[in-house]
Amino acid sequence: MMRHFLNLSDAGGDAIAAMLNDAIDRKNARQGWPKGQADADAPLAGHTLAMVFEKNSTRTRTSFEMAMKQLGGDSIFMASGQMQLGRGETIADTARVLSRYVDAIMIRTDDHDKVSELAHYASVPVINGLTDLSHPCQIVADLLTVMEHGKALPGLELAWLGDGNNVLNSVVEAAGLFKFNLRIAVPEGYESDSSFIAVANAAGANVTLTRDAREAVAGADVVVTDTWVSMGQEHAHNKMAAMMPYQVNASLMATAKSDAVFLHCLPAHRGEEVTDGVIDGPQSLIWDEAENRLHAQKSILLWCLGKL
Ligand code: CP
Ligand code: NVA
Repeated sequence: MMRHFLNLSDAGGDAIAAMLNDAIDRKNARQGWPKGQADADAPLAGHTLAMVFEKNSTRTRTSFEMAMKQLGGDSIFMASGQMQLGRGETIADTARVLSRYVDAIMIRTDDHDKVSELAHYASVPVINGLTDLSHPCQIVADLLTVMEHGKALPGLELAWLGDGNNVLNSVVEAAGLFKFNLRIAVPEGYESDSSFIAVANAAGANVTLTRDAREAVAGADVVVTDTWVSMGQEHAHNKMAAMMPYQVNASLMATAKSDAVFLHCLPAHRGEEVTDGVIDGPQSLIWDEAENRLHAQKSILLWCLGKL
């Protein structure tokens, strides 16, 4: 069966655990090497990834390009506005054509159904590089970052603050796959997709919702937030006011465990969802988290192409 990676559940807990271990091994094996040098085994030599972007990106684009380079393969960046896709060629036809040229397709777009449709018509693996629904690649990097800093996933106490968005949906999926405790603090009207929460809790996670930021963060091992206004959303004044009590600042962070860490997928809006003091402070792992997008991407690609 074709290994698409549209959500974490497409791979499942065992495959993601294998990706995480592979990512740690590959990262360790190339310490100090030039960033463009291929890994010793160059496992994707001769392979090419097409990367279709309908939204902006710094990390996802660069980390996928460098991931392919380090795996010994190539990548092609395709901005949808410069493709026939942007002039009305269908997703299905785009999928069929790209499948004749490349070995895998990564797409970042708005409607998740577009990615599902692309996967349906493609004859090569499709990777979700972010949709309005989810951001699974980000969460593989986040799990890697938490593990690297000595925190075991089962039983982990994680707090999410702010907007109930695409990144949160993938965190919820991870909670179900790795059985950790997730306390979500979001204002009324900005809750995340309840179906992800139902699936995670049925799988043995403990995902709970509160309106109280302090209740969510109390005793947490990991505190996570994201922008209050995701790509494609309006910058609504009402929303900013509703979000303010969920800002991650020093006083909120102080209610977490003393060795708690802070994660943010970036880009950050300093002074909104997080203060400079926290994001630049000693508990913040954001630069390791951003670097780990590269290492996580490599393992996701290897899994999709049947090399893991
Ligand atoms: N975190 C993340 O996906 O960043 P980019 O939007 O820069 O790709
Ligand atoms: N939730 C954010 C994540 C950006 C990486 C967005 O969708 O814009």
